[in-house]
Amino acid sequence: MKILVVCLGNICRSPVAEGILLHLKEQYQLENLVIDSAGTSGYHINEAPDNRTIQNALKHGVNLKPLRARQFNPSDFDEFDLILGMDESNIKNIKSLSPLPAHHKKVKLFLDYLYPNENKIVPDPYYGTEKDFEEVFQLVWNGSKALLNGLGYSLK
Ligand code: 4NP
Repeated sequence: MKILVVCLGNICRSPVAEGILLHLKEQYQLENLVIDSAGTSGYHINEAPDNRTIQNALKHGVNLKPLRARQFNPSDFDEFDLILGMDESNIKNIKSLSPLPAHHKKVKLFLDYLYPNENKIVPDPYYGTEKDFEEVFQLVWNGSKALLNGLGYSLK
């Protein structure tokens, strides 16, 4: 299973998801799981995650320092099985890059597994406070566990 998590800048929300999913993959020794993240924008290409994102994740033992931002590429539609956006605008931007229903079927909200049919989003913390970065971490932590359990990985 290949999962791509997408936000706008790929420096605040989706790197947290990439880091947590990689952390859970290692902790539970999950095989056949490929994780990546990207941004719909090209604003921060090749940058490390936002320093506030890095510092908050470190408090929880998740190291995001090696990650680098990249832009979503239409070839990702074929490369990944599941493409998860953090909010509705991410979903809209991703879907606008392909007309194919087979591609659109792969695109969902990241929190759909934790909160089915509620259209819940992970709010953008970029202009927010420390509290907003912690809220992102908690939502993404719980969402990541629900996602992996929902896909049939057993986290015990
Ligand atoms: P992200 O947050 O989409 O969670 O990475 C943002 C990061 C940067 C910007 C917007 C959102 N920006 O406008 O530069």
